[in-house]
Amino acid sequence: MAVIRSVIRGVGAHLPKRVVTNDDLSKIVDTTDEWIVERSGIRSRHIAGDDELTSDLGIAAARQALVRAGIDPVDIDLVICATATPDKTFPATAVRIQHGLGITKGAAFDVQAVCSGFIYAMTVADNFLKSGQFVRALVIGAETFSRILDWSDRSTCVLFGDGAGAVVLEAQPQHGNRDDRGILSTTIRSDGRFEDLLYVDGGPGSTKTVGHLRMNGREVFRHAVQKISGVIEETLVATGYAADEIDLYVPHQANARILDGIAKKLGVSPDKIMMTLSRHGNTSAASIPLALAAAVDEHKVKEGKLVLMEAMGGGFTWGAVLARW
Ligand code: ACO
Repeated sequence: MAVIRSVIRGVGAHLPKRVVTNDDLSKIVDTTDEWIVERSGIRSRHIAGDDELTSDLGIAAARQALVRAGIDPVDIDLVICATATPDKTFPATAVRIQHGLGITKGAAFDVQAVCSGFIYAMTVADNFLKSGQFVRALVIGAETFSRILDWSDRSTCVLFGDGAGAVVLEAQPQHGNRDDRGILSTTIRSDGRFEDLLYVDGGPGSTKTVGHLRMNGREVFRHAVQKISGVIEETLVATGYAADEIDLYVPHQANARILDGIAKKLGVSPDKIMMTLSRHGNTSAASIPLALAAAVDEHKVKEGKLVLMEAMGGGFTWGAVLARW
């Protein structure tokens, strides 16, 4: 039976020019390169300049994705930006990106699910495309997390970075079986009981400030391994694939030890797990599309390959998307 699937037509990425190494950070907080590498796997991250906004990063990533897809911006009718660091409280960063690309039709809005934002945004876009309401979507993950870090807190400021990634999705008729191209499965979950483990201590409706990121690292770590392994297993059961049939795992890049823990739990070889963490740090909603773009550049994905993306973030929110390239 013919069905509509959201096929990935192109991926793009953009990182701010400024690279900050662990040694650079050791000059502002009491830390070392050794500690950061051993506990997180991060060696450096990109940090946006004062004049680089989340929308600027998103526009640059989206432009690259559109060029690689061979699609004109005016043919996009849906723009979704996953971000927890919007340029302004409103309008949505997605609308600013839409405007920056010269698109005046269709709809644009933000999705806020922190580090799971890209998974949530892909899920929303997929449902709109499958329903026939839109035909071509730009899904962007863009963050300037450096703006919400407490640069005196060594337990958090060493872990994050800035950047943006983007994907062009197009509704295409497929056969309706597991060999189809496009998004084959999406799963999103949330549970607000865990809000206090990872949050920002400010906001327009409470403190009237932007606030700073606060995290109970150990507890987040424990939940991340459990919840991400769980949602991957759910995805595999729903689609009938075994863990080793997936060609490439493109996880949210939070901590190399979390990714190793998940690989071990699922019995997946580490070389099937895309890792950009050492050079990007944790870029929240941008990390999966940035890693996807790197996977394309490194020829790790090509047509027909099965790619599983997954994430967990503040809320908690978590989820997974399985797609055939
Ligand atoms: N440099 C040196 N020492 C540090 C630093 C630092 N940057 N940060 C903390 N320490 C110290 C602590 O003060 C503590 O010292 P103490 O024993 O004297 O009290 C010691 O190191 C150990 O601290 P822990 O927090 O127990 O260290 P842990 O091994 O748990 O590693 C880390 C911390 C890296 C944050 C880890 O818990 C982690 O990665 N958690 C997951 C968090 C995460 O990935 N969050 C991202 C957002 S959510 C997501 O994206 C999934």
